[in-house]
Amino acid sequence: MRIKLVAGNWKMNGTLASSRALLEAVVPALAPLKRANFAVCSPFPHLGLVQQALRGSNVALGAQDVCQHDNGAYTGGVSAAMLADLGCRYVIVGHSERRAVFGDSDELVALKYAAAVRHRLTPILCVGETLAERESGVTEKVVARQLDAVIGHCGAAALERGVVAYEPVWAIGTGRNATPEQAQAVHEYVRGRLAAAGRRMADAACILYGGSVKAANAAQLFAMPDVDGGLIGGASLVAGEFVAICRAAQSSKETVKS
Ligand code: 13P
Repeated sequence: MRIKLVAGNWKMNGTLASSRALLEAVVPALAPLKRANFAVCSPFPHLGLVQQALRGSNVALGAQDVCQHDNGAYTGGVSAAMLADLGCRYVIVGHSERRAVFGDSDELVALKYAAAVRHRLTPILCVGETLAERESGVTEKVVARQLDAVIGHCGAAALERGVVAYEPVWAIGTGRNATPEQAQAVHEYVRGRLAAAGRRMADAACILYGGSVKAANAAQLFAMPDVDGGLIGGASLVAGEFVAICRAAQSSKETVKS
């Protein structure tokens, strides 16, 4: 099995000029890498510029959130239809920062997931436990609850249309990544949970790891059998780091799994 996807999540950073400069460095460097898929998820106001910069490249466009509604009187909302119209292929839903800072509930995340699927976007569903939850031994319970909210609302088959990103909250932006073994254990659990909806679907699922991935630890994380790629925050804003992570994806698992 190869690494399937490496996606950058720029979060709320950058200017039009800095986004353009970042892509001028990243896009040509990723062009020769044919063994994995790549994406960048930019802030809404930069999507148009990023779409132009990615045109004709092997890097797909993604957004970081979506409104659960398709259109209408939802001031400030950005619909999945609008994202699809702009050329987005991916959209992140349920990021822990959305859950913690903006109050996105499991139910709202499920509605956003459904909206993305309705408009043929690939949702990247983020799941993951806080440090307190890990320390009290409920990691699997939390991840199961977050997955089940989407399965309950959209049906198990809808998970086939998306990507799951395991992002332990304690690893995000802290410099303290999950060890490859910790990531593998939760990824294996997620795949097992998806298997309830069908073994074939579980085997084909794309399960990303996110949380302090950098050039120095990407290869070890990507070597884990159930880690299908990465969702990269801070390091995706540094061209050399992001390119190195993508190169690690390109060359991983040639001998580990075939
Ligand atoms: P960092 O890579 O900065 O830890 O962020 C991970 C993340 O939240 C990606 O969505």
